[in-house]
Amino acid sequence: MSSYNNDNNKKNKAIILVGGFGTRLRPLTFTTPKPCIEFCGKPFIYWMIRGLILYGNVNEIIFASCHQSEIIKNIVTSLFVDQINNPKGSETKIPKLTFIEEKVPLGTAGAIHNCRTLIGNCEHFFVFNSDVTCRYDIVIKNLLDLDSSKIGNIAGFKVEDPTKYGVLCLSNPKDKTNNEIKAFIEKPKDSSCGNIINGGLYFFHSDILNFILDDNHKYQMLEKDVFPVLAKHHLLDASFADSFWMDIGQPKDYLLGQSLFMSSNQTLIDELNLARNLSFKNNQTNETKGNTFLNSEIKQVGNYNKFENCSVFKGCIIGNGISIKNSIIGENCIIQDNVIIENSILGNSITVFSSNIILNAKIAPFKEIKTHCISINEIKDYM
Ligand code: GTP
Repeated sequence: MSSYNNDNNKKNKAIILVGGFGTRLRPLTFTTPKPCIEFCGKPFIYWMIRGLILYGNVNEIIFASCHQSEIIKNIVTSLFVDQINNPKGSETKIPKLTFIEEKVPLGTAGAIHNCRTLIGNCEHFFVFNSDVTCRYDIVIKNLLDLDSSKIGNIAGFKVEDPTKYGVLCLSNPKDKTNNEIKAFIEKPKDSSCGNIINGGLYFFHSDILNFILDDNHKYQMLEKDVFPVLAKHHLLDASFADSFWMDIGQPKDYLLGQSLFMSSNQTLIDELNLARNLSFKNNQTNETKGNTFLNSEIKQVGNYNKFENCSVFKGCIIGNGISIKNSIIGENCIIQDNVIIENSILGNSITVFSSNIILNAKIAPFKEIKTHCISINEIKDYM
């Protein structure tokens, strides 16, 4: 069995799918596209791009967007602008960053078809959903190990409960690499068909373009329209790695994913000075618990606050005597004294006046919560 080698002279390309609406992360996604939402102190997509640059041997990353495309372009470009303008000053060469926009959503396969001219004669390319976090180093290395008789390698991940994902039926589930995918089962009722799921991270031979309908305006999904056909022709492998994995597209999963990513990247996060947590160490008046991440660029934090299982984004001002639990607080929010926030998401630039209690709420950006209210929305399975 021969496999594609990570030959440094033969560069790969990558497509990152950034065209989704991110409805489940509203109201954060009202102002910030899902791939750019803060995650461990950086826009989420930064970590993925970094992984591709360091481990994927890529010379071009194509961002396949639809709505909010201009915002995505501006944020991504600004992340690497120093290295692009000053290539000699940085150790790592930044690949070409290309942005392509779909007038209407084309689906995960339609988006790839839309990039075919950009792929050109490049033999192999990655396709990544832009909302999954994992150990990019291990996963990318495994993906590159594509058997030459196959068209695609899918990163599989073992999960405890596969019922909300697409499960991969494998020829030999015990083998971690070059494992042929026999079939796909979408959201199974239980784990009887296995618990290795499609992680939304792929490495393809360019021949895959022949399996996507040659119609620019056709909505096509990799998962439904392309992969089952490839599996039938024995052209798909899975590799699965000892890595955490999380789709961060829902608030609860976002917080868990952030905590898992933080655990495996603690040194880097410390080096880049992204978290504010450390500064609390000698400050007995504030308490942090659970999957909590406080951005180092929070403008101000008072005393006697409790943070549990929450994320507070940059630019926020936090008063005194506040309790924030199971919640995400968007950029530049002002939380005045003695506020309680639980099971809620606050969009960017919200002011909560003192002594408010906010429970189970989603609050749109730029609102002022003035009255002493208890705000309860009927959100089931929210956090
Ligand atoms: P929700 O609205 O919360 O379901 O989020 P989403 O719209 O991002 O959908 P989903 O999580 O299913 O999308 C998975 C990945 O595919 C994400 O990275 C999306 O950006 C991407 N994606 C989904 N549909 C399209 C599309 O039509 N075009 C492109 N370019 N990307 C897409």
